[in-house]
Amino acid sequence: MAGTGTASEPIDVVPMRMAHLEGVLGLGFQLFDVSKMPYTSWSLSSVAGHLDAQPEACWVAERNGEVLGFVLGSMSFDEREDWGYLEWIGLAPSVQGRGVASRLVEACCQALFEAGAARIITDVEQGNEASARMMRRNGFGEGVTVTLFARPRPDDFGRGRTSHVRSRPYDPARARLRTVARTTGPQAEQ
Ligand SMILES: CC(C)(COP(=O)(O)OP(=O)(O)OC[C@H]1O[C@@H](n2cnc3c(N)ncnc32)[C@H](O)[C@@H]1OP(=O)(O)O)[C@@H](O)C(=O)NCCC(=O)NCCS
Repeated sequence: MAGTGTASEPIDVVPMRMAHLEGVLGLGFQLFDVSKMPYTSWSLSSVAGHLDAQPEACWVAERNGEVLGFVLGSMSFDEREDWGYLEWIGLAPSVQGRGVASRLVEACCQALFEAGAARIITDVEQGNEASARMMRRNGFGEGVTVTLFARPRPDDFGRGRTSHVRSRPYDPARARLRTVARTTGPQAEQ
């Protein structure tokens, strides 16, 4: 039964399975402010897309069946098919600071290297010191810094139109599937 573990019991890091989907999704909603970048693409389809496309790069930290942490990775970053992407990691606050995040990172990175990644990319929000320090300790070094500039629409522009929110946020795992479909589909053979 979920939620029965005590702090003294060990936390296992295991491959993510379908049965973990709900726990991972719920924990992510607790940890990420999905109304703000860079967390707006957190969704059931994003989690399921990772599990579907690269199950070996998706790991869960659990105790007595309770999901306490997760890492979700995939192969390809933007158009680079030889770069792995460690996109999501999160741990319940009650188990942070115990090295569990490093075990999750290691499991995901090993899977991505075995899948052919020449390097692994992750992105860390400015000010997320816990994530930055944990990533540095696990062999990641700072690359280019990108700052998203946002220009809000003035109130008097486009009045009367309903705002359009994409129902399917961009998902690297889904994009990879589309790329594979493009290169192996009937048109690719012509
Ligand atoms: C990112 C996260 C997984 C790291 O897990 P963790 O268990 O806290 O990691 P660790 O304790 O092993 O390492 C964190 C490091 O940051 C430090 N740290 C922790 N909280 C901190 C804070 N609020 N400010 C500054 N440093 C902090 C720790 O002392 C540790 O430093 P050290 O390596 O020098 O010892 C966890 O903080 C988390 O789930 N955060 C919320 C979700 C999130 O932001 N995910 C990343 C974006 S996808």
